[in-house]
Amino acid sequence: LRKIGILTSGGDAPGMNAAVAAIIKTGIAKGLEVYVVEDGYKGLVNGCIQKADIAFASEIQSRGGTAIGSARLPEFQELAVREKAVMNLKKFGIEALVVIGGDGSYMGAQRLTEMGINCIGLPGTIDNDIVSSDYTIGFDTALNTIVEAIDRIRDTMQSHNRCDVVEVMGNKCGDLALYAGLATGAEIISTSEDKLSEETIVSQVKKLSEASKRSVIVLVSEKLYPDVHSLAKKIEEASGYITRATVLGHIQRGGTPSAMDRYLATTMGIFAVEELLKGHGGLYVGQQGNDLVARDIQSTLNMARKDKSQVLADARLLNSQV
Ligand code: F6P
Repeated sequence: LRKIGILTSGGDAPGMNAAVAAIIKTGIAKGLEVYVVEDGYKGLVNGCIQKADIAFASEIQSRGGTAIGSARLPEFQELAVREKAVMNLKKFGIEALVVIGGDGSYMGAQRLTEMGINCIGLPGTIDNDIVSSDYTIGFDTALNTIVEAIDRIRDTMQSHNRCDVVEVMGNKCGDLALYAGLATGAEIISTSEDKLSEETIVSQVKKLSEASKRSVIVLVSEKLYPDVHSLAKKIEEASGYITRATVLGHIQRGGTPSAMDRYLATTMGIFAVEELLKGHGGLYVGQQGNDLVARDIQSTLNMARKDKSQVLADARLLNSQV
């Protein structure tokens, strides 16, 4: 193995740069040439590929976002599109690739491996929805951003005896809502895995109001309700709390990566290069307990999601007391 490439795919996540930097530095330390692909699979198809050096790695390693750009490219499912990508890789003499991204990147990495380009995937997404890894790169930073935001919202809700509906990201995974709910004491938590109906939320807030709870945070995963502002209105009408809604949005994806995300990204980056040097491909790296493991992509797709319902039940019990 002489030349490897790196791309980031899907929604960016804090820590992606630390992973890219670790791969560049490890690759160069092991005598490889390392290339970065701009804008994910799209850049691969368009041949936007550049040689990377230590100075670039050092410059980006602590920064948020992804300096090499990311994109979503559903067309990569088409063989003709992938053939273009493989042709570009061959033009540069790149024999293997590290793909950093969410579950949307899995199949691309698998298919490229089948076409002779060994790919190792790293879980990079704020959503923490990669079942083969306890944590994904970016989750810790996003979670800390959310917790800081909710703490701020709590200050003003508590001052004014109000309620706020806070919507967080996560796509179809409720971990951001669950962990943030536990960390902030949000009175009501509705997650992708255990959605509360609007009626349930309204009646629970009403009970808290009747018990003279000074402030209420209703923390909800995105994509559960048609409109959190109209949910806030319903809560206000039934409970008497002046109720606002806050959609945290893309503020959750940006920002300087936390130390834990940098640590995870860096160790995973080193691990990925070592796997490529062993001639491995078609694997996704995950953290399990204190260990990094590489599993074949097909088996990660069949893994069941960890059951966190007890944590949610505990958080709800603790936080709804007055
Ligand atoms: O996968 C990361 C994520 O931020 C999800 O939490 C969210 O549903 C989605 O991406 C938003 O995508 P976009 O930035 O394209 O609006």
